[in-house]
Amino acid sequence: VPPYVILPGAPERTLKIAKTWEDVKEVASYREYKTVTGKYKGVELACTSTGIGGPSSEICLHELNTLGVHTCIRVGTTGCIVPEFDLGDLIIPVAAYRKDGTSATYIEPEFPAFANTYVVMALMQACERLGFRYGLGLDYTVGSFYIGQGRPLNEDGKAGVTNIEMETSGQLVVGYLHGMRMGAILSVISNRVLDRWGDNGGEEKACLAAAEAMKILMEWDKSGKVQMDINLNR
Ligand code: URA
Repeated sequence: VPPYVILPGAPERTLKIAKTWEDVKEVASYREYKTVTGKYKGVELACTSTGIGGPSSEICLHELNTLGVHTCIRVGTTGCIVPEFDLGDLIIPVAAYRKDGTSATYIEPEFPAFANTYVVMALMQACERLGFRYGLGLDYTVGSFYIGQGRPLNEDGKAGVTNIEMETSGQLVVGYLHGMRMGAILSVISNRVLDRWGDNGGEEKACLAAAEAMKILMEWDKSGKVQMDINLNR
């Protein structure tokens, strides 16, 4: 497995992500974990599904780490709880509430779940290049889809949480503690304050943006330079 790996939750999404790649090979498939390798615009990438939630993500990250993986980008979907994001928009979490359950077995709850700065920057640059609508987010990861996501964090949204999902904080913390660079890009499939539901092309955009971000990271890693062109007035 090459050291740059994209992490969707669902096994079938690995092949959707690899749709834009060449030389695609399925190298492993067991339970919720499917791994494919291939080349995106000439650079070698892998994609491994994590399954749902913290525990299955932990197994995945630990085993990828033993194979020498150093950079991971989660590609997922999320429910949004602020009006700023529409269906199909992409949220790049800079940090996450740690209600995942798994990361608490690694380190005390006061330890932050935060994305690697360069991975965040590469994801921003990828979205800019591809012309995708995106924003930075404060994610709320919770190890429950129903009761645990039953209501917004607080009525007036004071905590500034943008979105809720089930994997990001566990992956950010477990990956960080394994010495890996971690990030995530999440497509909005529901906006609960606007009562709107649907994919609206977001999944496909998130998959492409993750691969493009990996290519950007590889270019930065090789040259030792970060080059960005971000339009702050978008
Ligand atoms: N994933 C979640 O965990 N919650 C949502 O509302 C949407 C995606």
